[in-house]
Amino acid sequence: MKASGFNYVKLPKRAVAYYKNGAWGKPHLTRKATIDLSESAGVLQYAQSVFEGMKIYRTKDNRIVCFRPELNFLRLNDSCERMMIPTLKKEDFFECLNLLAKANLKYIPESSDGGSLYIRPFVFGSSAVLGLKSSDEFEFRMFGSPVGPYFQGKAEGLALRVTDYDRAAPHGTGHIKASLNYAMSLYPVSEAHRLGFAENVYLDAATRTYIEETGGANIIFVDKNGTVVTPKSESILPSITRRSILELCEKVLGIKTEERKIKVDELGDFVECGLCGTAAVISPVASILNGETKIEYKENGAIQKIRKALTDIQKGEAEDTLNWLYEIKQ
Ligand code: PLP
Ligand code: COI
Repeated sequence: MKASGFNYVKLPKRAVAYYKNGAWGKPHLTRKATIDLSESAGVLQYAQSVFEGMKIYRTKDNRIVCFRPELNFLRLNDSCERMMIPTLKKEDFFECLNLLAKANLKYIPESSDGGSLYIRPFVFGSSAVLGLKSSDEFEFRMFGSPVGPYFQGKAEGLALRVTDYDRAAPHGTGHIKASLNYAMSLYPVSEAHRLGFAENVYLDAATRTYIEETGGANIIFVDKNGTVVTPKSESILPSITRRSILELCEKVLGIKTEERKIKVDELGDFVECGLCGTAAVISPVASILNGETKIEYKENGAIQKIRKALTDIQKGEAEDTLNWLYEIKQ
C-alpha cells in the first residue's frame, strides 16, 4: 500500500485492552473503530489521556520491523503514572503490537517510497467522573495508519516562528505525552499555519529565554564546528528520535553532540537546524522568525547525513549495529 500524507486511515483491525476492578484484561483485536463512552468519562471531562507514536517499516527483504518500541512502552508508562492511569504490562503492549501488525500486514507500505505504518497506542479514563478525580476504568488501544511524510511539499526546509504562547509549565506535563499538551497547542499551530509557518518554536515558560521544542517535534541544531546541539530541558518530550540521533552521532558517525540549554539569542549562531520525531523523522528547517528577525539556515550536509544514517537503520537498509529494530515475525 502506498501512503502519501500523514492522515488517519481506518484499517480493518486494531488492538484493545480494558482496565476494570483494578486489573488490565487480556488484549485482543477488534474490528470496531469507534468507542462507546459515558458522557462523563475522565477523558472527556478532564482530558485523562496519554498516547505514543511509533513506526513499523517493511524492509526491502520483506521483514516487518518496528523502531525501538521498548522506549515507547517505557515512555507510555511514564505518561500513565503522571496522569493517574494504571501502567501497562510490557507483554500486553508487545502482544498488541504483534497482533496489530500481523492483522494489517498488507497495509504496511514499502519503505522504499518513504512510507511506514504509524502506530498510535493510547490509554484513557473511560469511566464516569464528576468531581475532579481519576476514572477507575481505562481503555488501551493501538491502531495503525499508513503514512508518508508529516511535513509535505517543503523540500527547501520548514519555516518556523518563535511563539509567544507557552506549551509546558515548569513541573507540568511537557515531559510526557499527555493529550492535553497537544490540545493546548492547536490554537497556536493553526495561527502559525495561517501565517505561513509549519510549526511554533516554544520557549521555556518561566523565563522565556531558552529554546524548548515545537508542538510535535524536538529541535536540533548544527553549529559552525559541526557539533550537533540540542536543548536540555525538563519540560520537553524526551524524543526517542533525538536520543537515537545523539547516540548515532557519537557512536557511529563520529559527530560531536551537546545537550544544553540554548538561548533564543543563539539562534543565529547555528548553521543548520532540523525538527526530529517519529512523525517528523528529521525535517530540515529553512528559517525561524524570532520577533522581527528572520534567521535562515542552509543545508550544509550534516542534517542530510544524519537523516540518511538514521532512516537506513529504520528501513533495514543499514546494519542494525545498535540493536534498535524489533522484528515482527510474520
Ligand atoms: N516532541 C513532541 C512534543 C512530540 O509530540 C514528539 C513526537 O512524538 C516528539 C517531540 C518526538 O518524539 P519521538 O522522537 O519519540 O517521536
Ligand atoms: C509523533 O511524532 O509520533 C507524534 O506523536 C507527533 C504528533 C504531532 C503527530
